[in-house]
Amino acid sequence: MKAVLVSPPRPGVRIGDIPEPRLSDRGIYIRILWTGICGTDREIINGVLPIASTPPGKDEMILGHEAIGVVERASKGLEDLVGRYVILVNRRGCGRCLNCLAGRADYCETGGFVEAGIKGLDGFMAEYVVDDPRYIVEVPRELLDVAVLAQPLSDLEKSIESLLITQRRMIWSCEDGTYRCRKAIVIGTGPIGMLASMLLKSYGFRVTIVNRRDLYPHEKNMISRIGVKFYNSLNGYEELYKEIGPFDIVFDTTAKPSVIKSVLRFMNYNSILALFGFARAPEKDYLDSEELTMIAAKNIALVGVVNGQKRHFETALEHIASWKSSMPGALESMITARIEIEDRDRVLKVLREKPPNEIKTLIVFSK
Ligand code: BGC
Ligand code: ZN
Ligand code: ZN
Repeated sequence: MKAVLVSPPRPGVRIGDIPEPRLSDRGIYIRILWTGICGTDREIINGVLPIASTPPGKDEMILGHEAIGVVERASKGLEDLVGRYVILVNRRGCGRCLNCLAGRADYCETGGFVEAGIKGLDGFMAEYVVDDPRYIVEVPRELLDVAVLAQPLSDLEKSIESLLITQRRMIWSCEDGTYRCRKAIVIGTGPIGMLASMLLKSYGFRVTIVNRRDLYPHEKNMISRIGVKFYNSLNGYEELYKEIGPFDIVFDTTAKPSVIKSVLRFMNYNSILALFGFARAPEKDYLDSEELTMIAAKNIALVGVVNGQKRHFETALEHIASWKSSMPGALESMITARIEIEDRDRVLKVLREKPPNEIKTLIVFSK
């Protein structure tokens, strides 16, 4: 079968022909329909993701952690899954710590977790995958066209969960009990920035999405469908601050210290800075003593947020279903290209480098 293969930490990617997986005793055999390309995939291909590693004993790994498939065969007792559409949960536990044993591998305490297509486990960019039913979530047929977005969205469902838990340290809702008075700034207009804006908006926050440049037309279209404000932060955040006041949530997808430093002094008392981004290129900068004092004096919380687990996939699918009617066309316009795996050169090119007009590119394995 065809599969997209990588060998981290070495850079590079190829499309190879490898044996089909064999159905195990308690497994299900899934035909992959399509997979999304994520920034993480490109970081692996370019050799800049330190956590990336091949499965034990192997020198190659199947790439990909955003996948929709259809169950074609199932082992005894699981036959009723045949014919169902599914999305696959990408991080799996270490098998030792309590969080992993309780299905919360996103909070693995040993660092021994594996991630499909990223760290120590084959991913989903292949024609077939055999998996354990514990790691699949059923996708309703009506959502099939955009359901692959439930993987990146699962990461954000976990993010907002952890953000709201953190903010329970005080009374943080507005006079009417909602979050309508709270201002959320999302830094970055990639797929994560877009999905974060949609989710924060659904929770009732007043959302502004930010980039240090003007928007490309496809991004403008997408943001107007979501119905949030855009701000160009090239000259800093002063203007935005003057207009809307101090920021209650800053959700960063860039991991750029210069960006964090420029936004910090506009953050509100008791606000929260969620760090989601992984750095693509090294950038050295430090928080100075004045900035650290301000973080302390204002009770600003800094929270790292990574990875969603099975129930975050489930809530992601619920949000996707509701956005289909509340933000018509928004999710659909996030999928900017579908390329068939047979189109090798185009697939490899788009895997190596993000095209300027992309929000989310899908590789189609079958239909
Ligand atoms: C994935 C996450 C994963 C993270 C770190 C992201 O691209 O969507 O689920 O935990 O990379 O490897
Ligand atoms: Zn990803
Ligand atoms: Zn663990």
